[in-house]
Amino acid sequence: MCGIVGYVGKREAFPVLIEGLSALEYRGYDSAGVALIDKGSLVVWKNKGKVAQLKAFAEKKVKPGSTIGIAHTRWATHGVPSQANAHPHTDAKNRIALVHNGIIENYAALKDKLKKEGVVFKSETDTEVLAQLVGKYYKGDLVGAVSQALAEVDGTFGIAVIAGDNPDVLVGARRGSPLVVGVGDGEYFLASDASAIVRYTKRVIYLKDSSLVVLNRSDHTIMDLDKKVMTYEIQHVDYTAEALAKGGFPHFMLKEIFEQPDTIRNAMRGRLLVDDGSARLDGLNLVMQQLRQINRIIFVACGTSWHAALVGEHMMEEIAGVSAEVEYASEFRYRNPIIDPHTLVFVISQSGETADTLAALREAANKGATVLGICNAVGSSIARETHGGVYLHAGPEIGVASTKAFTSQLTVLALLTLLLGRMRRISHDEGITIAQALQEIPEQVKKILKQNAAIKDIAKRYWKHNNFIYLGRSYNFPVALEGALKLKEISYIHAEGYPAAEMKHGPIALIDKDLPSVVIALKDSVYEKVLSNIQEINARGGQVIAIATEGDKNIKKYAAHVIYVPKTIPMLSPLLSVIPLQLLAYHIAAFRKCEIDQPRNLAKSVTVE
Ligand code: G6P
Repeated sequence: MCGIVGYVGKREAFPVLIEGLSALEYRGYDSAGVALIDKGSLVVWKNKGKVAQLKAFAEKKVKPGSTIGIAHTRWATHGVPSQANAHPHTDAKNRIALVHNGIIENYAALKDKLKKEGVVFKSETDTEVLAQLVGKYYKGDLVGAVSQALAEVDGTFGIAVIAGDNPDVLVGARRGSPLVVGVGDGEYFLASDASAIVRYTKRVIYLKDSSLVVLNRSDHTIMDLDKKVMTYEIQHVDYTAEALAKGGFPHFMLKEIFEQPDTIRNAMRGRLLVDDGSARLDGLNLVMQQLRQINRIIFVACGTSWHAALVGEHMMEEIAGVSAEVEYASEFRYRNPIIDPHTLVFVISQSGETADTLAALREAANKGATVLGICNAVGSSIARETHGGVYLHAGPEIGVASTKAFTSQLTVLALLTLLLGRMRRISHDEGITIAQALQEIPEQVKKILKQNAAIKDIAKRYWKHNNFIYLGRSYNFPVALEGALKLKEISYIHAEGYPAAEMKHGPIALIDKDLPSVVIALKDSVYEKVLSNIQEINARGGQVIAIATEGDKNIKKYAAHVIYVPKTIPMLSPLLSVIPLQLLAYHIAAFRKCEIDQPRNLAKSVTVE
């Protein structure tokens, strides 16, 4: 779980690599390192800590004149975060340096073999084994050595490699982990994703899986791992480096929360057919006939995407009349799921790179399922390996805690429900009602965002509490889970999400004056029941923060604090009720002075099992 950057060209490599690493820090940030070639020898600077620490430590020591290099920001898998375990790794003779994202599964066996040949290892990492292997085979032909070494490894990799005596060649390769080439004028960039290089070039090549790339200042060649030349396409990336900056907000997370009116609109742009009360989703690559024959959907995802899937399941069954179930990707792949020709598997992933989700996708495809994706990252592994799908178009999400991707996922799931539902039991008029309600959501979200200051005040009263409970029912049970996840991710407060009615079967024992309850109590079919739950909390001295429907004055009698959201139809209510919960978690974490965009122990995209 790491970010890699490589550069070969005419500029000083060090600042380019550091800039690139900073943009990739969301991929992991427990250590960082850079390797450059200085007058025919490798120079490596690496350290425990963040990229800024690496920059401060190496900046003055790096001699000018090096125009080729590789760099890495790490999220530990094998071995603790330390200088020795930080990348780049070098071979025994210090002739080649390598950075790696992924996992070498057979590293222990390879390491034993190399040790018997006399190699002394400097780190505990799986990556060093690969560096030592490349070093072993390197006799002046770097591409040959990399290809030979990769033939011996099992597992996943995105790598960048340089050799001290070959200052014109940068080699990259990938299997399972992402890698993008940036094409400049007399220069090339290599990175885990395009955000590291967009400030230098907008022309990129998303490398296909199992490929190898050789870059020098004037030329590039793309091959498969057996060195057979492959075809590729140069694409234009349409977001700028500025889009990645915080846009005046103190944190990316807050910026992304405030982007939601736009990102929700983007997710339905050109897809919502209000007059027909339906939707069109061209990327599904399925003809109408196939869509009509589907009678079961399995949603597979992790984390926040899994919560979106739970809402999707509810929409699908209640509104579209299609039987649906939700699986954790990490569990799905180790079960033996029953998949028939009328089952559609939908994988949901913001990054499109989550290892568990990718593995589940492959498992489902292997069993003959049609697998579709709901992804944000264009050109990501999941987007490429699914048979079709729908992009979120939410733009890059940098805050580790997912916010805008969640609401975009809900929007796409609503569109999908409309599309499948209109083929089954949704009438034209009902379709129009849903489509119109969906169209109103962005403005309604804007209205909720205006309450930011009031939500901050509530956070100010509660930020010192160490436990929270989140309750919701029906469509808003997954929102309770998501609200609790947001709080624990960024503030390190223990928070549990629960179906409101289940509270009496256990969690009620926890209720006292020190345990605030956040209760989603909208005016829907379960309103009265949830109100009873709130009264049970009050009776035990608990404090309630309620998320309620605009105009509901009654609830003020029962809740210490009320945050209102506009009225919408029940299936779309999670798109609104989640917004105050995102803001509440954000402000509580800010009062606790937590590192909101990069919470401890977490990573934006988990590309290991
Ligand atoms: C990580 C992130 C979560 C995210 C989950 C799934 O755990 O920290 O925020 O929800 O992965 O990510 P995906 O990119 O597949 O949606």
